[in-house]
Amino acid sequence: MTRYAERLERISEGLRGRGVDVLALLPGANFTYCTGLRKSQTERPIILFLLATRRPALVVPALERGTIAAAIPFPADFYSYTDESGPTGAFRAAVRELRLARARIGVEPLGMRLLEWQGLACEAEGCAPEDVSDLLSSLRLTKDAGELDAMREAARITEVALATTVREVKPGRTEREVEAALYIALLRAGCEGFAFEAQVLSGPRGALQHVTASDRRIEAGDALIFDVGAAYRGYLADLTRTFALGHATNELRSLYEIVFQANAAARAAVAPGASAESVDRAARRVIEDAGYGEGFFHRTGHGLGLEIHEPPYIVAGNRLALRPGMTFTIEPGIYLSGRLGVRIEDDVVVTAAGCESLTTYPRELTVV
Ligand code: CO
Repeated sequence: MTRYAERLERISEGLRGRGVDVLALLPGANFTYCTGLRKSQTERPIILFLLATRRPALVVPALERGTIAAAIPFPADFYSYTDESGPTGAFRAAVRELRLARARIGVEPLGMRLLEWQGLACEAEGCAPEDVSDLLSSLRLTKDAGELDAMREAARITEVALATTVREVKPGRTEREVEAALYIALLRAGCEGFAFEAQVLSGPRGALQHVTASDRRIEAGDALIFDVGAAYRGYLADLTRTFALGHATNELRSLYEIVFQANAAARAAVAPGASAESVDRAARRVIEDAGYGEGFFHRTGHGLGLEIHEPPYIVAGNRLALRPGMTFTIEPGIYLSGRLGVRIEDDVVVTAAGCESLTTYPRELTVV
């Protein structure tokens, strides 16, 4: 059985167990998990139907039917529509042939849009939606060997790109110029896309969260944070390293050492059976004991795979027991508003023996 046939089989089993007749997936991580295809949602609806009793079926725009049919790794039925006709006829045909009237239709609340749901519900009298997102995320929680290979490659590409970019960093360059070099390096290193908008943050901007590069010129003595990830075969990397530009100030050195120890402590706490929150605690304890607890105001990590944030979340309150094959980030940081930020982020997988880091970029403070 291929990996996709196996996945569909497990999903069918899960649907049957809940009395759900059909799963309707829109493009997104679960769609990719089921098909290997990476599509995005546009104004032209695409729906994948997985049914307990017959082979998968898709509603697709006619102009993509050929490429999707050629790439999909299992036999499927197609209901296509043109730009002129619109999708209503395709919805009607699918509803009739797949017998969706009065069906319980499994959906993802974060994925299903009103456009597709109304298109189905208008034709399928008495159908009802059922949230099955937990079934899908539980299947995706542990990665198989092929998924881990893709994540290792995404990490490798990211590290090549970071190493290349770091060599080009000079005082006087702007964050945006460095960011451009980083994106070029990612593409040259073989990424198939970007996992998220990369961050290049220098000096006091390093203390800011969820912002991107600016026109600030990097100065000697700055701490310089890179948070970057490549996508490869749909799987993502998420790597953060903090560098010293020109020379490392005493403040940077001392904060860096604490974050370095917190990162190491969290990785050492990863083992089968350990709780997700215990990994967070291990990192947080180091930073709190050093007196910087207030400067570490985010969770220690997040699951990583087809999505940049997915379960398991490495956060206080998450008692989930770790199992081999789970993948997540470990990314403690200390942020001092108006001064600087330091973060060291790795991507790890739980192994039978404990923890393997998929990212291996040197963690020691480097002056560039
Ligand atoms: Co991250």
